[in-house]
Amino acid sequence: MVQDQTDTAKWERYYQGEAPWDTGRPASQLVELLPRLATLCHSMRENKAPRALELGCGTGASCCYLAEQGYNVVGIDVVQAALDQAEKQREQLQERSSAAAERLSFKCQDFWELEDATDVHGTYDFIFDCQLYHTVAPEARARLVDLYQRLLQPGGVLCMLTGNANEAEVGPATVSREELTLDCGPFAAASWEQVELCETRFDPTPAYDRLERCPLAWQAIFRRLPSRPDPAPDRAQLVAQLE
Ligand SMILES: C[S@@+](CC[C@H](N)C(=O)[O-])C[C@H]1O[C@@H](n2cnc3c(N)ncnc32)[C@H](O)[C@@H]1O
Repeated sequence: MVQDQTDTAKWERYYQGEAPWDTGRPASQLVELLPRLATLCHSMRENKAPRALELGCGTGASCCYLAEQGYNVVGIDVVQAALDQAEKQREQLQERSSAAAERLSFKCQDFWELEDATDVHGTYDFIFDCQLYHTVAPEARARLVDLYQRLLQPGGVLCMLTGNANEAEVGPATVSREELTLDCGPFAAASWEQVELCETRFDPTPAYDRLERCPLAWQAIFRRLPSRPDPAPDRAQLVAQLE
């Protein structure tokens, strides 16, 4: 399930059948994180609804949850069928809270287009990535992390839930601690602060039940510091430091 360029047709096929990751509920790790997010996220200002973004939001349950918690939320996915389901969730949210539903929007878009959309850079307080990063080809992952950093306000927080290579790959693609460190490393020294990196498991789905265990995951939390390093540290140097 690793993509080196966006294979929209592949993602569409998943949503025509069973999307093995889809729980229909907000990620349990996100629910646990929320009470401390305002403390972690230095960019959140009082009396103003913070802005949140999920790339690869799928059927949108985590986005709905964030909107219910007071965030202005944008969910982006490349598959319209997934977003049709997300819109249904938004309609249900509307019945519970029209204010929350108004804070939420979904957009059908390839997230790589955001690299050039400089008008949205520096606008988000919180970015959530649930099983997107590990689907990106290894050589493009650092680019995705760089995009996240550009999209976040200084002080903003990124939370990623991604496959963990400490257990044999049985479901989603996996990444090692070293790979994660390298992808985020070029920014770690001067403008990316690692808040947390811990092991967890993806929430149960019927497909994971058939695997007889939920795949092991990383929960990685980073905070964007005020400045970006210029120039970024050399990747080869970082590899040497890890060896
Ligand atoms: C493994 S799924 C995770 C979905 C959702 N975050 C969840 O946890 O249920 C990855 C999602 O990313 C979307 N996606 C993949 N490549 C994308 C791209 N280039 N732009 C936007 N969305 C993309 C897929 O359509 C899919 O919904």
